[in-house]
Amino acid sequence: MVKFRKIGILSSGGDAPGMNAAIRAVTRRAISQGMEVVGILGGYAGLIGAANEKDPEVIRQKYLRPLDTHSVSNIVTRGGTILYSSRCPEFKTKEGMEKALRVCEENQIDAIIAIGGDGTFRGATDLTNHGIPSIGIPGTIDNDITATELTIGFDSALNTALRMIDDLRDTAESHARCIVAEVMGNGCGLLSLYAGIATGAVCIAIPEIPFDRERAIQKIASIRAQGKRGMIAICGEGLPCTDGQPYGQGLAREIQDRTGIDTRFNKIGHIIRGGDPSLRDRLTATQMGVEAVNMLLEGRSNVVMCVNENRIATVDINFALALDKMYKNKLEDGDLDGFSSYQVAQMKARCEYRHAKIEQLYKMSYDICI
Ligand code: F6P
Repeated sequence: MVKFRKIGILSSGGDAPGMNAAIRAVTRRAISQGMEVVGILGGYAGLIGAANEKDPEVIRQKYLRPLDTHSVSNIVTRGGTILYSSRCPEFKTKEGMEKALRVCEENQIDAIIAIGGDGTFRGATDLTNHGIPSIGIPGTIDNDITATELTIGFDSALNTALRMIDDLRDTAESHARCIVAEVMGNGCGLLSLYAGIATGAVCIAIPEIPFDRERAIQKIASIRAQGKRGMIAICGEGLPCTDGQPYGQGLAREIQDRTGIDTRFNKIGHIIRGGDPSLRDRLTATQMGVEAVNMLLEGRSNVVMCVNENRIATVDINFALALDKMYKNKLEDGDLDGFSSYQVAQMKARCEYRHAKIEQLYKMSYDICI
């Protein structure tokens, strides 16, 4: 078993319900194994910020908060992140990394567990490469980390989105309107697809699948002719603009212009990042947090905690990042260098599997959402 004196934990990128449950699990598991834990405030920016401060008390207050079993009491139920979060471009620079390494050395931080999305994992692998073993825990409402079937926050955000869309339906029904709801997701349509199916949307437009706009408009007109009053159309965040207008607004206008149905546009945005974490997110976050500490104890690092086939698993961070780029069609020259042909084939198979699952659900929604 590898012994660490102290491990750091941070949350970075967009916050997500369940991050606190992961922070609690990491802290308690690490302490139970004789380690100290420090909460790095504000993500990677906190790690860098501490380098510019000399006063140990200010460092403790603003950047590096020691965590004990009591300081993480009662947070399993709370949304947001008690460690705060940020996006930190400086961390990608040589100077930023040097500052972070100095802070780790001066504060005896031997390893780091970073909760967040792909940007967070890039930071974690950089730290590992510079001698600070690091592990990533996927925390983002978008569920857009290809290596894992589930990210912490997705389930809670979906449940919040459901409540909001259900409420929109009430007013759509009263006024016999169509409401186009754009659901957050940063180019990943999973929140929109699941929310659309579960709220009975009349159509769902997501970035992953070509959207048959003509068919959707005709369908809306035809079901209105059959007497349906309120309708919800869902679209994902990140779809390209149409006629110079954000996608959802353009769609709302077209529905109104072509069907004569009074139509409104509504954005379901940051609100779904807040709120209490769901059972599923609390549980997954706890399992991932405990397993992340176990990995470090086993001498493993540079991995992302994942859920695959309902089991907690690990995937090498570099593999996960390249896989993500492949799935999102963002591969650049050299990104696959260093991977064996077997690994590249594995990545392709995972991309196909993920896309096929989304496509299958999407096709199913065609017959159900009428
Ligand atoms: O990644 C989470 C997310 O909420 C995305 O769905 C969204 O596109 C983005 O973050 C918004 O970022 P910000 O909070 O910085 O505006």
